[in-house]
This record gives sequence, C-alpha cells and structure tokens, in this order.
Amino acid sequence: MCGIIGYTGHRPAVPVCIEGLRRLEYRGYDSAGVTFAQQGRLEVIKESGKLAELERALEKAGNVYNATTALAHTRWATHGVPNQANAHPHLDGGERVALVHNGIIENFQSLRQELADKGYTFRSDTDSEVLVQLLSEGLHHHGSMKEALSWTLGRAEGAFAIVVLSLDRPGRLWGARQHSPLVMGLGVGENFLASDIPAFLPYTREVVFLEEGELVEIDASSWRVYDLETLKVRDKEPQTITWDVQAAQKGGYKHFMLKEIFEQPRVIRDCLTGRLDAAAGEVRLEELDDLPDPERITVVACGTSYYAGLWGKHIIEKLARVPVDVTIASEFRYSDPIVGPGDMVLAISQSGETADTLAGMRLARERGAKVLGLCNVVGSSVARESDAVIYTQAGPEISVASTKAMCSQLTLLLCIALRLARRLGRFSDEDMETAAKALDELPGTLDDALPEMRETAQKYSRLYSEAANFLYLGRGWAYPMALEGALKLKEISYIHAEGYAAGEMKHGPIALIDPKFPTFALAMADELFPKVKSNLIEVQARGGKIIALTNPGLDLEVDHPWPLPHVWGPLNVFMALPALQLFAYELADYLGKDVDQPRNLAKSVTVE
Ligand code: F6R
Repeated sequence: MCGIIGYTGHRPAVPVCIEGLRRLEYRGYDSAGVTFAQQGRLEVIKESGKLAELERALEKAGNVYNATTALAHTRWATHGVPNQANAHPHLDGGERVALVHNGIIENFQSLRQELADKGYTFRSDTDSEVLVQLLSEGLHHHGSMKEALSWTLGRAEGAFAIVVLSLDRPGRLWGARQHSPLVMGLGVGENFLASDIPAFLPYTREVVFLEEGELVEIDASSWRVYDLETLKVRDKEPQTITWDVQAAQKGGYKHFMLKEIFEQPRVIRDCLTGRLDAAAGEVRLEELDDLPDPERITVVACGTSYYAGLWGKHIIEKLARVPVDVTIASEFRYSDPIVGPGDMVLAISQSGETADTLAGMRLARERGAKVLGLCNVVGSSVARESDAVIYTQAGPEISVASTKAMCSQLTLLLCIALRLARRLGRFSDEDMETAAKALDELPGTLDDALPEMRETAQKYSRLYSEAANFLYLGRGWAYPMALEGALKLKEISYIHAEGYAAGEMKHGPIALIDPKFPTFALAMADELFPKVKSNLIEVQARGGKIIALTNPGLDLEVDHPWPLPHVWGPLNVFMALPALQLFAYELADYLGKDVDQPRNLAKSVTVE
C-alpha cells in the first residue's frame, strides 16, 4: 500500500522523487523517505508524518541537489508503527544498499530470526528491513546484484514491489515485483520505476508494465527486464499513456473528492462512448461478447466496488434475468466457493490491485470459471489476469474515498445488464430504445443538477453537523446506495453511520431511533416508494429526524426532503449517488476533516 519512485537520469533526482511522491500520496502517507548517493555514502533522509515533514527535513539537510539518481517512498504501515525508524528506505548493516518495499513479506519473522542468528542487527520492526539485510547476505554469496536479488526474493513469501540502490553502482536502480504493482517510465536520458504512472507522468508517457516475477535493471540510458527466477532476459513492449497529468490534479476544486464528484457526468459520457448507439437504440460491449452466455454471475469485490456489485445484481437480474451472487472478496477467497465452468466471475476493482479481489479471481479461474474484470487502471493486475476486461475509464481517482470510479462501475454494470438482456432476448427493441435515449440524456441532466445538489448538501450538512450517528435506509436498488452513503460518511467525516434495508429496520435498528439519531432515506419514484414511505413513518413515530432523497411531486412529508430530477427508473442511482457523496463531503469538510486523505485509509489495498 506504499508509494515508490526511483529516478536515474540527468536532473536533480531528489526533487523529481519528492514531486513523484506527492502524486503517489494517495497510496499511503504515514511516513516518507528518500535515499541517494553522496560523497561516497548513501544518504537516507526520512520522517514520520506527511510528505511536508520530509520536505522540511530535506531543507534542513541542504545540499540535496547534486544526486541524479534517487529512490523514495511513502509508507502505509503494515509491520511496525509509523515512525522514523520504520519509514523507508532501509539500509543493510554495511550501509551500502538501500531498499524500498511495497507489500508484505509473510515469512519475515523466520527470515529475521535466521539473520539474527548470523549476527545481523535490525534498526526497525519492518519486514522490509529484513529484505535488505537478506539481500546483503545474498551479495556475499552471489556477487552480482541480479543474482543476489533473485536469491533473496526467491526466499521471500508474500507480496512485494521493491527498488534497490547500491553504493557500488550509484547510477543504477534494480526493481522487482510479485503481487504488488511496479511500472517503469522511459524518458530520454532518464528512466523511472514507480508504483503508479502519475509519479513520473510529467516526464514521460512511455511505460513498461512489469509482470509478476520480473526483475528490472535501469540506468539513465538503458533498461532491461529479466525473469526473477531464471534471470533470462524478457522482451517487453513499451506502451504510450494517453491521459494527462492535469487529470491527476485538482483543477480548481478545494479537494480531489469534490472535483471527482463533479466529473461524474463526464465519466458517464466516456463510459458510454463507443458503447451506446442512441440513434440505433443499442448498447455494444465487445469485451462481454467475447465470453459465452453465463448461466450465473458471481461478483467478487471489496468496499465501494462491492456495493456497486450489489446494485449490479439488482439491475442484471431485473433486466437480463441472469442470477447474480455478490460476495465480499475477502470472504469469497476462503469460502471454498461453488464456481466452475459455465460461471462468470465479475471482479470489480477501481485500482485493479486489491489483494483480496485478485485472490478471489485467481481462485475462480483455477476452478474453471471465466473472469471478467471491471477495472479502472489500464495494465493493472485485475486487468491482466482476467479472461476479458472492461475498462471503466473514469481516469485516475486521487481522493481516497471512491466516487467517480463507482459511477463508472454502475454505468458499465448497466451496460452489461442491457447487453446480456439483448443477447438473451429479454429486452425488446422498444425498451432498448427508451433505455438508450435515457442514457444519452443522463450526463446532461446530471451536469445541470450538480450545482444545486451541492447547495442542498451544504445546507443539510450544516443542520446535521452535530449528529454522532446516522441510519441510511433504502430498498431495492436503493439499498446498496444506502450502504454506500453510510460508508462515505463514516470514511471521511468519522461519524458513525449504518446502511440498512428499510424493511429490515423494524427487526432491530429501530431501537436506536430518537430525536438525536437522524435517518438519511432514499425514497425516490419507484415501485417500492409506498413501502419506504411506511418505514419512514415508523421512524417519525419515534421522534427521528429525516433527510430524504426523493423526486418532485411524490407524496412524502419529512423534515428535510431533497428532490432530485426525474429520470428513467434504472438511472435513479446516478442521481442518488452524487447526492450521497456530496452530503458526506460537505459534512466532513465543515467538520474540518482531511477529506482526500482520511485517517487510517489508503487508496489501493494491495495487502490482505
Ligand atoms: C471506499 C473505497 C474502498 C474501495 C475498496 C476496493 O471509498 O474506496 O472501499 O472501494 O478498497 O478498492 P478497489 O475498487 O480498488 O478494488
């Protein structure tokens, strides 16, 4: 879950790496550090806390502009508390080799014991320091860095992306990956290794994605990739990235989250481009057409992506009448799941690197199921390991709390539902025409609605800023949105919130309701509206205050109604989602929380 950037070239390397770390802060941010060779020794400067702390330390250190090769890291703690000693880079005992690591070495305790028995001492509690000490042991036995890395990493169990700098070749960097991401950026007279592309995007668009079990060696003017185990050279094709670093910056909004919420009309439009033919009344989805008709679909995902999957179940079952199970990936992987040939497993992941989702899809493939990846990051592990992949095309999502990525997942899930419904002959030409027209109009409707939605969110968030708890209620399609609304609120405002199926409330949670325990309801125009209305009357009877997303003209009396534009039924979700996101955003911002980087969270959960 950490961020890595290594640079070797002709520029002052430390500022390049610090700038790269800033663009990787979403990956983890409890400590940061940098190393470079200077005057015959490896300088390591690292600090706990956010990147600003490291920048202050670098200012104090002075004279950091000469090195043209450097290696830097932001950490999200897995082993050992976030303090200076545990921050990366880590040095070997002789201080000749520095290493940064993202991932978890599962057998680090036995390796550490083995090294301790040989007299090695440790400065940190991390599994990563064990790797660099083991590497120095490897260098004793094998001489060359490549061989030593192959030996060392061959002994490491678990997940890693590492980059190494050695005093013996201070203009060179070595990297390797297994279950954690690492990409190489190829510039002119300079090369990069990083956890993610935005780290080096201002300098180059040419990238090489490293695969599982690959080792790479770079200097300013050359690069080569090897099989980590055999050290045989592997041929790799550079790819050109078309998106822009601007897309990864705030563009005038106070926070990335707000910017990303407002990008949703564009995201929907992009997802539909080339897929929706409004004139012909058709949805195309070639990626899906490559796979056979599924007898059943199993969605595997985590967090917000899981909630998108729950909505996907609703819409796929409703439109295509294909049964859908939705399972949290961390449960799926250990549940001995009943999947096999004939099943389609839909792995939904914004980052494409979520460890549990990846493990779930690997298991499904082992058992003969076809895996369709729904993923936002081109070249990510989910994308590479799926039988077919549908890219959600939301662009890089920087705010830790997922917003526009979910919107893109919902758009594509609707496309999947429509495409399957058409393939299976369960959706008439007339229905399809209505759907295509409504989808075509959706981005414009949402664009027009967002400014007023934000004003309402601002107004209501002030009214409820003292609430310590919230209950989110919805039924049918709106139940997954109630779960998502509650998740967003707790993630960024730290207010306790629970999402519940409105009809289930009287079986327990109703006991919580009192005038200080507000309810956020989804009571929009659909066939379940009368049922939701009755549930809300039950809340009111206990003195509970209610904010309700609803539609103009509906007969609903609550404290704070929040009318949203009327759209074609299955598209209600695209109006409700930004309202829920904006309410959480405005409340968290009003309370002074760090909206884009909430405590204890990281953007890409690459550990189990
Ligand atoms: C919530 C959030 C997380 C992610 C989850 C899965 O705002 O962002 O719950 O949805 O960690 O991540 P991906 O989709 O990258 O697999």
